[in-house]
Amino acid sequence: MPKVNRYVDIDTVEREAKKDYIDRHSPFVHCDATAKKGEKFAVTVKVGNEYTHPDDFDHFIANVSLWNGETLLARADFLPGTLGNQKSQVEVTFYIVPTGNTLKLVAQSYCTKHGLWESEPVTVEVTE
Ligand SMILES: [Fe+2]
Repeated sequence: MPKVNRYVDIDTVEREAKKDYIDRHSPFVHCDATAKKGEKFAVTVKVGNEYTHPDDFDHFIANVSLWNGETLLARADFLPGTLGNQKSQVEVTFYIVPTGNTLKLVAQSYCTKHGLWESEPVTVEVTE
């Protein structure tokens, strides 16, 4: 199993280079706090909040996946050059249809040089 790097609040990190390293690899889950059961619900995953990541042929974000607890919901794969070979933030919107009472959404992103990174979990209340 690969090592899973987890997001650390960069306000608690002193070195600028380390803030950049953590932030640019961390996926962030953006969605509403509540969803309706049986209806499409948009979940955007963006890699990097304040910092951007390279899109080089030997160093890029290769995929972003979205989990509900331990269940994989969706994954998007990227090829190098998709973001113009310039520093950017990978961003994907997944549309999911919730069936349970809550969602515990976690995103992961994979950098070809710096491995697997995981977001903080986001809990969504699902109403009838
Ligand atoms: Fe990287």
